[in-house]
Amino acid sequence: MDATTSHERPVFPMRVNIGPEQWVSIRPIERADASALSDFYARLSPESRRRRFLSCGGAPIPLVRRLAAAPGFVGILREPGPLDGAIVAHASLLPDAPGSVEVAFTVADEVQGRGLGKRLVAMVLERARSLRVGRVTATMLVENAPMHHLLVGAGYAILADRIDAGVEEIVLDSGAARSVAA
Ligand SMILES: CC(C)(COP(=O)(O)OP(=O)(O)OC[C@H]1O[C@@H](n2cnc3c(N)ncnc32)[C@H](O)[C@@H]1OP(=O)(O)O)[C@@H](O)C(=O)NCCC(=O)NCCS
Repeated sequence: MDATTSHERPVFPMRVNIGPEQWVSIRPIERADASALSDFYARLSPESRRRRFLSCGGAPIPLVRRLAAAPGFVGILREPGPLDGAIVAHASLLPDAPGSVEVAFTVADEVQGRGLGKRLVAMVLERARSLRVGRVTATMLVENAPMHHLLVGAGYAILADRIDAGVEEIVLDSGAARSVAA
């Protein structure tokens, strides 16, 4: 099932197959996920953590709690192995101004490149639209080609794409204004 096509309401949990006997179950994040989310960020490679947080530091507990309380999605790994049940992906929408959210995406190193990021970008943009949030901003290191590729290729209008001091900010229009008018 592809639950993210053309603004259909997704059905959760959503199963994404990523390998033989290995899939990821995606659902909305809950406050109770805070501890597992903290473990997920702690398990990331230094490079993925740097790309996610734009610095070598990790995710401080207050930020993790804020992320767990905000709209977003987690991907739970399902496999016959030691990581079964662990969070392996997270996408967040943090309000940063009226009608505007800052979004961020993280996929565990061991399951990157298998389509989870693309799926999460589509889900987050659809969620922004359903929350009536028009402006969706993502900030990434300028060398983060996969993230840039996923955002500009998501099929949404690009309101801005700025680079300053090695950091790129992409602002997308979720289409919320048009869906309200329609
Ligand atoms: C960025 C990130 C979320 C992507 O997740 P993912 O599950 O690996 O992404 P996907 O497998 O869905 O897609 C990766 C895409 O990048 C493309 N890509 C990979 N390397 C690339 C490169 N060097 N240049 C351009 N595109 C590239 C792939 O071809 C794929 O696009 P496609 O589906 O059109 O072929 C993940 O790599 C990650 O968590 N990185 C560390 C944290 C981070 O950078 N967060 C972003 C801060 S907002």
